[in-house]
Amino acid sequence: MKDLAGFIAEQERLGRVVHVQEEVDPVREAGAAIAAQEGRIVVLDRVRGASGRVAGGVASSRELVAAAIGCGPSETAQVLARAMDAPRPVVPVAEAPFLRSSPVFQVEEAFAQLVFDPGAERPYLSASVIAARSRRYGMNLSFHRMMYLGQNRFSVRIVPRHLAMILEESAGTAEIAVLLGLHPAVSLAAACSGPPELDELELASALVGGLSTVELDGLTVPAGAEIVLRGTLSAKELAEEGPFVDLTGTLDGVRQQPTFTVSRILRRAEAILQAVVPGGKEHQLLMGTPQEPRIHRAVANTVPCLHRVALTRGGCNWLHAAVALDNPRPGQARNAGMAALGAHPSLKRVVVVDADVNIYDTDALEWAIATRVQADRDVIIIPGCRGSSLDPSRSDQDDTTAKWIIDATMPPGRDRAEFVRAGPGRGSGVS
Ligand SMILES: Cc1cc2nc3c(=O)[nH]c(=O)nc-3n(C[C@H](O)[C@H](O)[C@H](O)COP(=O)(O)O)c2cc1C
Repeated sequence: MKDLAGFIAEQERLGRVVHVQEEVDPVREAGAAIAAQEGRIVVLDRVRGASGRVAGGVASSRELVAAAIGCGPSETAQVLARAMDAPRPVVPVAEAPFLRSSPVFQVEEAFAQLVFDPGAERPYLSASVIAARSRRYGMNLSFHRMMYLGQNRFSVRIVPRHLAMILEESAGTAEIAVLLGLHPAVSLAAACSGPPELDELELASALVGGLSTVELDGLTVPAGAEIVLRGTLSAKELAEEGPFVDLTGTLDGVRQQPTFTVSRILRRAEAILQAVVPGGKEHQLLMGTPQEPRIHRAVANTVPCLHRVALTRGGCNWLHAAVALDNPRPGQARNAGMAALGAHPSLKRVVVVDADVNIYDTDALEWAIATRVQADRDVIIIPGCRGSSLDPSRSDQDDTTAKWIIDATMPPGRDRAEFVRAGPGRGSGVS
């Protein structure tokens, strides 16, 4: 059975896990201790006042994300696309480690109360995945941050997508399971936003080669989950949620949001609480990586010369993309840019480069812009588009944004030798 503990053990053997053995404070130190080691998995062995360990940064680098789905860092878009095309039935099992635990009744007893914004002093669950069942479409998994209100109640941030639809279907209340501590392939599947009929459990099953699941009060949930909170989500009882750091690393506001009341706490012996540092690389990679196959597919359908696509690190793995093309013909860079913008509606900027530029390296992208772009010729701006609600620079009147394409491919008709990298150790090897 694929689970978080197993993934951490595998990565430990590869030297990608850091243990913090000294006791850390859940308000002032825990989030910072995880953030400080971005790119590695951090296990907090002792959190003051809490039973159980905390793990963060589980998918905080492209290497970790790729390891989760068993491929190389530049192959994740293709592997995810294949899994989306061929979801795999889950493997129902009767037993799960979280079902065997002795009962706890209070959230405070069950796991560490982590505060990511010491100014606000509100404990948050930042890696919480909600499993809910739609009458029309079946099971749905999606990430939702949850602010602890005390007395086993949380306010839950719900952007109007499938979980909001499930709440509407069931007249404002839904029986749900909150999953804390999942194998990162399951997390990636939960972060995918496909059509409502996409079953994220079956997608996860394709990614891990058969996902074991158990039935819990009519909900299908991964058997490998570390902690499961059962209870009722209600849009009839709203409460304040926020402020909290969003994907872009900027502060999101305070809103009235649905509440979740816990009826049952289930956890494995020695359960690990998973945490995602808000606005950190893991948050961005979990959100962005599942969008890359959509962009890849749209660009590949538009031009025959696609080499690779990536959402870029500096662009929060969400707002900016880079597309590399192999010897594009005149005009194909612009077509590729338009296809990318259409495929991921939150995208704001696309840089299109030749295949000799490493699209995972921000310096290399800037080098291509510096040496191959004339702004009056190669920058295309499309005003008044619908963009990301996460971009603080969008219009404060109507939420619109301008999008742009930078064609940083070599100008057609010119000698390539003028543009490729030269000099010792600088061969323009294809990325
Ligand atoms: C770490 C992380 C945190 C997220 N937090 C939220 C959140 O608080 N609220 C929300 O609605 N979506 C959040 N998302 C995005 C949703 O999980 C994502 O849009 C998902 O695909 C929605 O699923 P659906 O297509 O089934 O609606 C988050 C994603 C990640 C990776």
